[in-house]
Amino acid sequence: MPDLTGLAARAGGTYPQYMVLNKLDGYARGAVIYSGVEMPNFGELLSGRLSRVQTDRGLSRPFPEAIIALDAYLRTIQQ
Ligand code: HEM
Repeated sequence: MPDLTGLAARAGGTYPQYMVLNKLDGYARGAVIYSGVEMPNFGELLSGRLSRVQTDRGLSRPFPEAIIALDAYLRTIQQ
């Protein structure tokens, strides 16, 4: 699986928030497959309260709050 401290570096230096939220939410399922392996989805983390996020693509969309928290954490561990 990809090194999650290198998300920003692989995206040219800017943390790719929209890609990460979509990946964690399962919205991008089927879009990216490395070496024939796709990430499993998060199951129960995807249920529960939703909050609207103003993403870096200028789009506002609801995401599960647990996924929003995970995205915020991933942003802090970028190298
Ligand atoms: C808290 C746990 C996890 C987080 C936050 C997470 C996050 C991510 C993110 C952000 C990506 C996209 C990376 C990129 O495109 O540069 C990714 C890809 C991937 N992850 Fe995870 N992941 C987690 C758990 C797992 C687990 C448990 C597995 C396998 C058992 C897994 C397997 C993969 C694979 C194979 C990919 C590349 C293929 C794809 O994008 O679907 N991940 N992960």
